[in-house]
This record gives sequence, C-alpha cells and structure tokens, in this order.
Amino acid sequence: IPVDPFDLVVFGGTGDLAQRKILPALFRRHCDEQLPDGARIIGAARSDLTRESYQALVAEALQTHCGAVAPEQLARFLDRVLYLRVDATDPAGWQALTQELGKPRQDRVRVFYFSVGPSLFAPLAEQIWAHELADDQTRIVVEKPFGHDLASARALNQTLASHFDESQIYRIDHYLGKETVQNLMAIRFGNMLFEPLWNSQYVDHIQITVAETVGVGGREAYYDKSGAMRDMMQNHLMQLLCLIAMEPPAKFDPDAVRDEKLKVIRALEPVEPHHIVRGQYVAPSGATGSDLTYRETVGAPRSTTESYVALKAHISNWRWAGTPFYLRTGKRLVARSSVINVFFKDAPHSIFGADAGRHANLLTIRLQPDEGITLKVTIKEPGPGGMRLMDVPLDMSFAQALGDNIHGAPDAYERLITDVIRGNQTLFMRGDEVEAAWAWTDPIIAGWTSRGDVPKPYDSGSTGPGDADLLMRRDQRDWRGINP
Ligand code: BG6
Repeated sequence: IPVDPFDLVVFGGTGDLAQRKILPALFRRHCDEQLPDGARIIGAARSDLTRESYQALVAEALQTHCGAVAPEQLARFLDRVLYLRVDATDPAGWQALTQELGKPRQDRVRVFYFSVGPSLFAPLAEQIWAHELADDQTRIVVEKPFGHDLASARALNQTLASHFDESQIYRIDHYLGKETVQNLMAIRFGNMLFEPLWNSQYVDHIQITVAETVGVGGREAYYDKSGAMRDMMQNHLMQLLCLIAMEPPAKFDPDAVRDEKLKVIRALEPVEPHHIVRGQYVAPSGATGSDLTYRETVGAPRSTTESYVALKAHISNWRWAGTPFYLRTGKRLVARSSVINVFFKDAPHSIFGADAGRHANLLTIRLQPDEGITLKVTIKEPGPGGMRLMDVPLDMSFAQALGDNIHGAPDAYERLITDVIRGNQTLFMRGDEVEAAWAWTDPIIAGWTSRGDVPKPYDSGSTGPGDADLLMRRDQRDWRGINP
C-alpha cells in the first residue's frame, strides 16, 4: 500500500548517510510504486548547490548504491527531489524553506530527518518552530549515535522533548528494520512451539554474535571515540537481546513492544569486570597492510579503543534468572555473521545410557547473511548398531523457503522510512529505552577507564581474542556462529 503524500526534508542531504542509505531507500520505494504522486524529498545542507547540481549528486549516489538504475525511473524520482541551502543559523535558507513548505497541512505528512551531528539538533529544532514549520503531526528522525553516555543521551532527549512530543520522535536503530530481526518476534510469538520452553528452566544459555569483516577505515575519528561497546553493543546487540528475552507484548503496537523491551534492559545486572573481554585487531604476523591493524588505521599508536567486545550478561527476572546471555561483536573478524544461538538444556534423564552421549537441542537463528533457522534435533543413528544417537539439523533457509519473496523484502532503511511516514513507532527506540541502555553501558566503560584497561590484541581475520574463548570455557561452553 503506498504511503500518504509527504514532504521529507533531509538535513545533511549531501552527507554520507543520505547518499548511502536514505536516498537509495526512497528510490527503491519509488521504483516499487510505493511513493505517492506529489511526495517530495527536499535535500537541505550548507553546500551552495542548485537544484540541478543536487539532482546530479543524487543520481550519482543512486547509481553507486542501487545497482542498475533505469533512466526513466531515475528521471521520475529526480522530479521529486529539491534542494535548499540551509544553515542552522542563517535566516536566508529558512525563509526559502518556509516558502517551499508552507504551513503544515493535514493532507500531507511532514518529516524532518536530522541526518546531522547531534550538536545541530537543538538549533534545527528551534528554527523549525520559529518558522512555524511544524505542528503536532510533524515527525523528526534522528540517527545513532544517540548520545555518548547517559548524561549526553539525557541532554539530547531533553532538547528534543522541549520541541517535540515523544510520539513525534523516531530514533533509528537500523537493526530493528532488518527483516530477519523482526522475524525474531514472529518466530517467538507466532509459534506455539518455542514460547513454553523459552525460559531458564529449559534454556541453558543464549549466545548473540554480530561479527563483521569490515574494519573501521573511513570512520576513524568517530570510531576511536566510541569503540565496539558504544557503537554496537549499547544499541544493536542490546536490541537483539531485548527481542530475544522480552515478555510477549499484549499487541504489536509501539508502546506495548517498547515497554517490554525496556523491562529487559532495566532487569540487566551490572556486568562483572571478569565477564567482559575487549579486543583490538592487529595484522597477523607476516601480513602487511595498515588497514589490518586498528591503531594504524585510526592513526593513534596508543589507542585503547576496543574493536571487539564479548561479555556475559544476566537478566534478573523470573523468566531468565540463572540463564547467561553471551554477547559478542567485533570488526575484522573471519566472517560476516549475525547469529543467535539458543542452547536448550540436556534432557533430564537419558534412557539410552551413558554411551548415547550428551545431546541437547540448539536453535540457531541466522540474521545475516544466509538468513534462516536451524534446529538441531537428536535422532537414532541409522543402522543395526543399537540405540546410538546423533544430532541432525532441521534446517530452513529463508531464501529456499521463500524463493523470490525474500529478495523483494525491503531493506532496513526502506522499511523504517516508510514506517515514519505511516506514523508507526514500533521499530524505533523510545527515549527511556536509550537512556536505560546507557545506564547499563556507562559503568562498564567507566570501569575500563578507572582500571586503565587495555584491549587484548587479536589477529585480523580471526574469531577474536583468545580470552573471549576462555570466558566461555570457564563456564564449560563454546562460542558458535562465526566460522563460515
Ligand atoms: C552501524 C555501526 O550502526 O552498524 C557500524 O556504526 C557497523 O560500525 C554497522 O558496521 C553494521 O551494520 P550492518 O547492517 O552492516 O550489520
């Protein structure tokens, strides 16, 4: 169903995110006939561009990021694209924007996408109101990083709250827009099979892995101030943890879902220092290439920023007390792989005797790539050799099961931008959720700082630092999910 007519103003419209994600997502929706006639995209930035030169920039971005682009589709899309030179502090651009947009209208959704640094949130919001460009139906979109710690996240929330109601604020965590991440909820709450077993009585432990092969090249300055804990753990992995661990919401509506996620974050126990491993990638011996060594890439020979983090978390509630959650994420690892593994407990008693060995069910949810689900089940080993058991996978690859349908699925930004225009906040983070996630993260980072913690080196192209394996082995467990 096409969305309602809209005006989407992209502040930072010439920036990297606009070119890589926002404009390609809008273009793909346009090609799928999902954008209504009259929907307009207004790039706004400080560069002195004409409408034509901005359209040329957009065309180039689409050609780079959308593969083959049909010329007639492109031309029709560019008809929707305008450009205005707008500086948060310069009145001239705001007059032009006011003229272009006019007063908010009931029949047209208005969205301001703040694809800019957080220091511009306040000035932009002030100008929007000073020029009467917003009403209580207007929406704003903000990107991560939403703050650097609890104090800064709170300050940002307060800034936005002094201009907009929470129902107007869409904080993006693009993991929530991923098709397979939403599938976590479908799998849990659309099937009778899993939920009765989804608790500490039956689940031994859960592992969440988000492994990347990319390094930090291209974003050195940002990353060296953030590290894996802030860049990935506080948001993407935390969201995955919430979706895996939360209670069933009463309905699939924004506050019902977000209330449940918030309860998970608030029930997280502080993480013990010896339950965390930090790592930083280095070139394997003999290998050359500055992008293989973190410190060379960021140009800071003594940097102690982590490009990898693994930790053991506990959720103190009735459902999960006693079931550890192991989370890890890192850059320059051996494979790109986002996987959730739910390890069930052994059967309480083996009727087949000790020779049958230990067998337990394992549910693997592959988020990317090769999305799918595998359930490891135990069967009898074929043949006359008595009652010997073996594990086999019940395997479902979404690509095989869904065929072409999965390729038609919108990417994260397409879905999220469409949701903004439709006014659906379910897949966006609420202010209190973000603050709770920082409240859990801050003491971990403060502990590293006060102890002068230095990350453990790990080879680029490996599975991460050896200490992360030890973290598991101490609990008689092993990581699963990175090796291709
Ligand atoms: C971003 C992080 O939010 O997510 C990046 O800032 C990371 O460091 C990226 O590479 C991973 O996203 P995806 O969609 O490629 O898994």
